[in-house]
Amino acid sequence: MVEVRLEGVTKRFGEVLAADDVNLTINDGEFFTLLGPSGCGKTTTMRIIAGLEYPTEGKVYYNGVDVTQLPSFRRNTGMVFQNYALWPHMTVSENVAYGLNVRKTPREEARRRVDEMLELVHLGGLGDRFPNQLSGGQQQRVALARVLVINPGILLLDEPLSNLDAKLRVEMREEIKEIQRRLGITTVYVTHDQEEAMAVSDRVAIQDKGRIMQVGTPHEVYDRPGNLFVATFIGKGTLLEGTVESCGDLTGVRVGDMLFEGVTTCDEEVTEGSKVACVLRPEYFTVREPPEPSNSVEGTIEWSAFVGPITEVRINVGGVSLLVDAPPDREYETGSTLRVYIPKRKTIVLPWMEL
Ligand SMILES: Nc1ncnc2c1ncn2[C@@H]1O[C@H](COP(=O)(O)OP(=O)(O)O)[C@@H](O)[C@H]1O
Ligand SMILES: [Mg+2]
Repeated sequence: MVEVRLEGVTKRFGEVLAADDVNLTINDGEFFTLLGPSGCGKTTTMRIIAGLEYPTEGKVYYNGVDVTQLPSFRRNTGMVFQNYALWPHMTVSENVAYGLNVRKTPREEARRRVDEMLELVHLGGLGDRFPNQLSGGQQQRVALARVLVINPGILLLDEPLSNLDAKLRVEMREEIKEIQRRLGITTVYVTHDQEEAMAVSDRVAIQDKGRIMQVGTPHEVYDRPGNLFVATFIGKGTLLEGTVESCGDLTGVRVGDMLFEGVTTCDEEVTEGSKVACVLRPEYFTVREPPEPSNSVEGTIEWSAFVGPITEVRINVGGVSLLVDAPPDREYETGSTLRVYIPKRKTIVLPWMEL
């Protein structure tokens, strides 16, 4: 069982700052995700944890022991990549047994371990197939079994589901989560998909241009984003530039003609007159007046799309466009007016920053 700690980890590739002063503690048994846009340094950070890359500056600790210069094969980590990297000329069982054979595990024990792992990833009975006789999802399970068979202290998964179609991705993420929970293995997961990150993780680190912008539970980063980058990267929403009119428990923010009262501020830096960003998630809005005190605005319907559980509606309020999740059981005619309500304490207000 392993706790991983990164201290001031920086990685430069020439001019490129791939990891910028990364400080993280990944708890023993935790499902921890690095989330961020393509090129933000997720893979580099993970490769540094694995020992496949050495930091330009900073330290990596496993259970408090400095492993910064320890090569990857001495760290007992298991890594699964997006492209599976199975050996095509070996059967499923042979692929999974590979790490055990390298370690000279007795044949009987190896066979037992391989069968156990194939059961764990729901591939029991498919051991004699070759990788090209399996679906993408099944191949990814083999890759997972091949890594887990050696009992790694840390499981590292780099965009493992990116090659699968949407439905399979959801199924596989549930399975990976279930396997991780059952084994209690410290897991670092890399994805650019915020929904996937929220669904599987105990905690998420959001990375941008090499830097960690926030670390928190899915609820913390969604409900209390630490800055504007996090607020816009995670979840949908309308971002509005506003000015703080009054501060304190009932902070009020003006956006054009609209005044939002009693909003949640995440940051003490926000004071009266501050230029701020208001983040309004589409699900904050209600179309029927809620029983609790709320802000309300009226706008003209610009666009609507029925997507099943909700209808997405865009309304224009004095030139400002708001995205609203509306009940799906009625029509929203373009050009007609719609009044929407936003419960107090819902709106997120953050110091303005240029993205
Ligand atoms: N071996 C390398 N040599 C030079 N630049 C690299 C190398 N690996 C990554 N980079 C650069 O570092 C940045 C971060 O890359 P990466 O960690 O792969 O991001 P992510 O996994 O988030 O997409 C990118 O700008 C990428 O081009
Ligand atoms: Mg990557």
